[in-house]
Amino acid sequence: MNVKVVATYKDVAERELRDRIVVVIDLLRASTTIVQAIENGAQSVIPVDTLDAAANIKRNRGEDTLLACEREAKKVEGCDLGNSPQEFTTFRVRRKVIALSTTNGSRAIQRVKGNSVVMVGALRNRKRLCAFLLEQKFDIALLCAGTDGDVSADDLYCAGAIISCLRETLENRELEIDDLGYMAEIFYNNAKADPSLLTGIKHYRRLQELGLQKDIDFCFSEDKSDALPVLVDGIYLVD
Ligand code: MLT
Repeated sequence: MNVKVVATYKDVAERELRDRIVVVIDLLRASTTIVQAIENGAQSVIPVDTLDAAANIKRNRGEDTLLACEREAKKVEGCDLGNSPQEFTTFRVRRKVIALSTTNGSRAIQRVKGNSVVMVGALRNRKRLCAFLLEQKFDIALLCAGTDGDVSADDLYCAGAIISCLRETLENRELEIDDLGYMAEIFYNNAKADPSLLTGIKHYRRLQELGLQKDIDFCFSEDKSDALPVLVDGIYLVD
C-alpha cells in the first residue's frame, strides 16, 4: 500500500489523486465535526465552498436541512450551527441534512469531489477508517486541509496517527509512505508521548484563545467512532 500525504488542499490539483482513495483531514475541527454529525444520525452532510451555497441548499431543501457555518472559528450569524463537534448532538442532527461551510475543511472536500472515493478522516474514527483502508487494495492519499493555505500541524498529527494504525497491521515492506508521511508519523509518536508539543499548533492556540479547550480535547480523542463518512455523487457525505 502506498500512502501519499498532501500538506494543504491548495497544493493539489484534483486530477493528481485520481487513482487513490482520498481521505480528507481537518482535525481541528471540520472533519471531527462531520464524523460526529454522521455518528449522531445526520442523514448526510453537504460540504460547500461558500456561505451562499450553503444558504441555497437550505432554501431549496427546506425544513430537514440545517445550516452549519464557520468563519474565523466562530459560528456565522444566522446559521443553525457553527463548527463545534459538540453542537452536533443526536437531538439536533438526527435525520437532518447538514449544509456545511467552513474556512478550510469543507473546501478541501470540494477540491477533490471528482475523485472516485473521497472519505473523511479524524482521530475519532481512525481505527474504523484504518480497518476499511486495509480491506481495499488501493493506494491512499491523506489530504490535509491546512489553515488558510498554510500547513496545519494538527492535520499532520492525524495523518501520522492513521499511518501508525496502518503500520500496526502491515509489515514495513507492505507500507510505502512519502517523506511528509514519515515526518507526520514521527510527529504523532512524539506528540502522543508529550502532548505539550501540540500547544504550539497555530489553530490549537486560536481555539484556546476562543475558550474552546473542550473542542480541542474532543478532537484529539482517538478511536471513539465507527462513522465512516464517504462522498456520494460528489455532493453528500453519508456513512
Ligand atoms: C476549518 O474548516 O477551517 C476549521 O475546521 C475551522 C474551525 O476550527 O472551525
